[in-house]
Amino acid sequence: MDAILNRRSARAYETRGISDEIIHELLLAAQAAPSGGNGQAHVFGIVRDQARKNALAEAAGGQKWIADAPVVIACCARLDADWHTLPKEDFGLQVNTLRFGERFLRHLLAYPEWQETAVLLADAVPLIPAEHMVLAAKAHGIEGCIIGWLDVQKASGILQLPADIRCLYLLPLGYPARAPGAKKLRSLEEISFCETYQSK
Ligand SMILES: Cc1cc2nc3c(=O)[nH]c(=O)nc-3n(C[C@H](O)[C@H](O)[C@H](O)COP(=O)(O)O)c2cc1C
Repeated sequence: MDAILNRRSARAYETRGISDEIIHELLLAAQAAPSGGNGQAHVFGIVRDQARKNALAEAAGGQKWIADAPVVIACCARLDADWHTLPKEDFGLQVNTLRFGERFLRHLLAYPEWQETAVLLADAVPLIPAEHMVLAAKAHGIEGCIIGWLDVQKASGILQLPADIRCLYLLPLGYPARAPGAKKLRSLEEISFCETYQSK
């Protein structure tokens, strides 16, 4: 609870690096994360090279402070390559049909660019593992910030990823250089309900 309640997104970092031992621990934390159908489609790139960090920050809409982090984790997903050809009984296809509706799934299947559709459907894949990393890092006094404002294709090119792996989020990590500002939380009444929403 301490790590969870005191975690904050940090966007300014000390120059101090992050040891390989800690990075190894963060990868173990990511590895242990739950995943749909136990697919474990998450892949993480550890980026320390300054030029590469600069390029990734550029791909993140010019959020230049990202390049000041000693380590940027590239949070990637392994895509279902050419998922148009998946058999009807494929687990992921069945789950997505149920979640998004048959009509929308038919639209997606008709869309000619398999990779763009697969990126959309894989959007959540790296997020829970990334948050595992964030909370494990917090125990070492390290903070990060999940970055979704990202040109996925540009970032994936910078990382020289194959076509069936895309970088969906960045996670700059470092020892925070300043205390976070105040954050107003929505009340528990606003963010929860018992049994049905009508009982609020
Ligand atoms: C999916 C996701 C995407 C985010 N993308 C960005 C981003 O591109 N740039 C950024 O500065 N913060 C980004 N954030 C961080 C949020 O702005 C931040 O979590 C929110 O303001 C709450 O602040 P806190 O993390 O300090 O509690 C993202 C967070 C999440 C969960």
